[in-house]
Amino acid sequence: PKQGPLAGRSALVTSGPTHEPIDPVRYIANRSSGKQGHAIAMALAALGARVTLVSGPTRLPDPDGVETIHVERAEEMMQACRDSLPVDVAVFAAAVADWRVISTPAAKIKKQDGAPPPALELAENPDILKTVSGLATDRPALVVGFAAETGDAVEKAVAKRKRKGCDWIVANDVSDGTGTFGGDENAVHLITDAGADAWPRSTKQDVARMLAQRIATYFESESD
Ligand code: C5P
Repeated sequence: PKQGPLAGRSALVTSGPTHEPIDPVRYIANRSSGKQGHAIAMALAALGARVTLVSGPTRLPDPDGVETIHVERAEEMMQACRDSLPVDVAVFAAAVADWRVISTPAAKIKKQDGAPPPALELAENPDILKTVSGLATDRPALVVGFAAETGDAVEKAVAKRKRKGCDWIVANDVSDGTGTFGGDENAVHLITDAGADAWPRSTKQDVARMLAQRIATYFESESD
């Protein structure tokens, strides 16, 4: 059995981008590296939690001591998250694609001389954070979302917390030059019902450790 302040607790973490297929060889993606989400999964496991990591395609190894489920599309990520419930805490760090391509042919789309380029018709993907936050049964006791904003990050994240129905939001500013996306460091604010806490610029590992520690403190004070 695991030791630590989160022993006996279970956690779900999403990480990485999603890949939304266009045809068998092409996809729509984003620049998420999965570094922050994977680090959170590891930090929660290090405090004793039983962790399920639902990860989109990344270059990262599966963390030791964590059950990792690999997915590609947002809809697969949604299903894997549902299958992982119930958990005590869920942290949604994945950069889920907002849209998927509606119809994906079984064969590669051919480029034809003189023909116009294909038009991609998009549909909105399920919002995993919002869906899990709003569950009537099996809602995790603590749901944590992320917000990557350019400018006015705190103000936007406070509004996002309400809109998504989650308990906490980890907000970061991804404006050009901050190097957050794909980088190793993160300057974040933690938004809770009590307001916004500015955390010092740290490595993604340290942000993960601070968040895992805050989660442990939350459950300790809850069980008093
Ligand atoms: O709305 P936005 O994408 O900025 O929200 C970011 C937060 O919502 C992140 O925690 C992300 O993991 C989550 N999210 C999600 N499913 C989506 C879109 C975002 O879980 N389809």
